[in-house]
Amino acid sequence: MKKKFSTFIIAIVLSSGSYAMQRQIEPAENWLKNTTDVINLQLTKAAETYHPGKNPRSVNPDGTVRVVGLKDWTTGFFPGSLWYGYELTGNKTLADQAKKFTLALDSIRYIKDTHDLGFMLYCSYGNAYRITGDKSYLPALSEGAKNLAARFDPKVGAIRSWDFGKWQYPVIIDNMMNLEYLYWAGKQFNEQNYIKAASSHAITTLKNHFRKDFSSFHVIDYNPENGSVVRKATHQGLTDESAWARGQAWGLYGYTMCYANTKDARFLTQAQNIAKFIMNHPKTPKDKIPVWDYDVHNALDTEERAPRDASAAAVIASALLELSTQVNDGKKYVDYAEDILKSLSSDAYLAKPGENGLFILKHSTGAMLYNSEIDTAIDYADYYYLEALKRYKMIKKI
Ligand code: GLY
Repeated sequence: MKKKFSTFIIAIVLSSGSYAMQRQIEPAENWLKNTTDVINLQLTKAAETYHPGKNPRSVNPDGTVRVVGLKDWTTGFFPGSLWYGYELTGNKTLADQAKKFTLALDSIRYIKDTHDLGFMLYCSYGNAYRITGDKSYLPALSEGAKNLAARFDPKVGAIRSWDFGKWQYPVIIDNMMNLEYLYWAGKQFNEQNYIKAASSHAITTLKNHFRKDFSSFHVIDYNPENGSVVRKATHQGLTDESAWARGQAWGLYGYTMCYANTKDARFLTQAQNIAKFIMNHPKTPKDKIPVWDYDVHNALDTEERAPRDASAAAVIASALLELSTQVNDGKKYVDYAEDILKSLSSDAYLAKPGENGLFILKHSTGAMLYNSEIDTAIDYADYYYLEALKRYKMIKKI
């Protein structure tokens, strides 16, 4: 018995030692090389296959691809992916294609009925300007930011997210993602009110969207007359009280970017607390790709059978990598993001070249309870995965 026990201990020590060694001796270049090849092939073929202004959004259950026009909230992600693809691979053809797919979105700048202008314009035109410095991209960014800022109401202290539905003044956690655009535009176009609106939105959201454990509600409906909270609810989560996975990811990313732009300590604390909720969640699967809602296993299904959301994982990885650069003890965030990126870069999630509707990642979930985009490829998963890879390579100096 004694012998068996000591053999057992030796086996554990050896296997944990070899795990540690493996982490050190398996250079990131190994898994990144295959990933970069797949990214190059998928994006090159996708840009040849799809048409500017009719961008690929997701793969339908019958294997066909859902393409979307200018009004769709996700339409900026494909051009943005082409820009990141260019940065990751150095393939100039991707930059030429990125330009065409970006310019086709010009009239988005006139849209006034949604908060999604950040996703639509900053991911496309924002990356175009960041990478090329070409000032001809600025008018669309300027007009779009003006329209986004106009959705801020000082009585509520927040930007109105949607104009549809039976809400009085709905604000969704996703809206945190569009503040980075306002911070950038405020500085670029010298509009202090954009910066004030973004910070006010973040403070109002901090007060009302979060629970004691730093998970967040999806939608807060406000009384537009006095800014009081009418209802705390969900739109895409399992229940009003549950932690919808992508919502937690949007919150983490949003507060990380608010801190990066303002250095307001309240935003850093919030980002770190959300990171703790995500990273310590007991039900996170071993590969660190969350199920579409953190509470789903309690109510609907077991973790193994419930669909994952690779898009939430990609957003979390990108946010944690950025957060790691804002703090002194960032290694834990880099390690967690690295684990996610390795999972997403494995055969379980990474497409085979020429398959998956020419998207890069499999296994995202859009809106489970609406039976929409379940366990499939979705454009925003690819976008944040590419962004995370770029951040990872910069941090690791690869
Ligand atoms: N912003 C909508 C979503 O995350 O599905």
